Amino acid sequence: MQPEDIETITVLGAGTMGHGIAEVAALAGYDVRLRDINEELVEEGYDQIEWSLNKLAEKDRISEDLRDEAVDSVTPVVEMSEAVDETDVVIEAIVENMDIKKDVYEEVSEHCPDHTIFASNTSSLSITELSEATDRPEQFCGMHFFNPPVRMDLVEVIRGEHTDDETMDTIEALAEALDKKPVRVRKDVPGFIVNRILVPLMNEACWIVEEGDATIAEVDSTTKYDIGLPMGAFELGDQVGIDVTYHVLEYMHEVLGEPYEPCPLLEEKVESEDLGRKTGAGFYDYE
Ligand code: CAA
Repeated sequence: MQPEDIETITVLGAGTMGHGIAEVAALAGYDVRLRDINEELVEEGYDQIEWSLNKLAEKDRISEDLRDEAVDSVTPVVEMSEAVDETDVVIEAIVENMDIKKDVYEEVSEHCPDHTIFASNTSSLSITELSEATDRPEQFCGMHFFNPPVRMDLVEVIRGEHTDDETMDTIEALAEALDKKPVRVRKDVPGFIVNRILVPLMNEACWIVEEGDATIAEVDSTTKYDIGLPMGAFELGDQVGIDVTYHVLEYMHEVLGEPYEPCPLLEEKVESEDLGRKTGAGFYDYE
């Protein structure tokens, strides 16, 4: 599959990252199918795309014509065969769970044309292991976007053990066509590059608060005004989703060991479903 032949992109999962990736693809002029497991989820994702495109148009970041074209080019779908039967690239952004992802890849493999490339937006899971659940491990790589996708430039393009050169080249070119800055990740390690650095930072921020050494506001002031991140560590945790950070850490802890043990503060937030901006409360309140 050559980059110039890509016309249709399917995004699996209409959650925070899925709808954001679908929006980016629509803005770049692709025909986009946004798929989730029921009407309610897929419509919620579609509404979020409309909200975001309206915001961008209000702020003159995009024209009203581009907003309208982008909205029109997204088709919400529930039926898997309809979502992928004519697609050129599948970008998967479903829940961060290896077994669920593998089941979905088995199903997708049954319905996709032979030329279709699969790219996973996983934040940390093994690209090699995921690729082995498909019928085309050589046409599989990681394509990791950052939250919010429409505002963040970076995309990690991750090579699994089976990924061929053509797939890497095509997905790198696709990232550029989406107006992103791709960085190739040569080794399929948990957390890849960005999360290997950022997620332990968020975890350490939690340990500092958990152990009573500083408050959330104090830690955030430091990370924002001294270390120079665009958001405080806790603001960022709420933006990304506390469940996402927690699942990445759990996986890094399992594979890489002790230094990555998730702080109980994260676990408490996940248990109480205070997951950040998307649920209206996390480390901060948003309602
Ligand atoms: N679409 C459109 N508008 C959006 C939006 C979206 N998806 N998300 C937020 N906005 C709006 C807000 O509602 C707000 O609007 P109002 O001004 O009307 O209230 C506005 O954008 C804020 O944007 P600004 O440009 O005014 O503010 P900013 O300069 O602070 O930029 C930001 C916002 C780009 C998010 C910036 O704070 C930033 O870069 N933060 C860091 C984000 C980051 O590091 N993300 C990566 C996390 S790691 C990850 O995602 C990987 C993983 O696997 C865990």
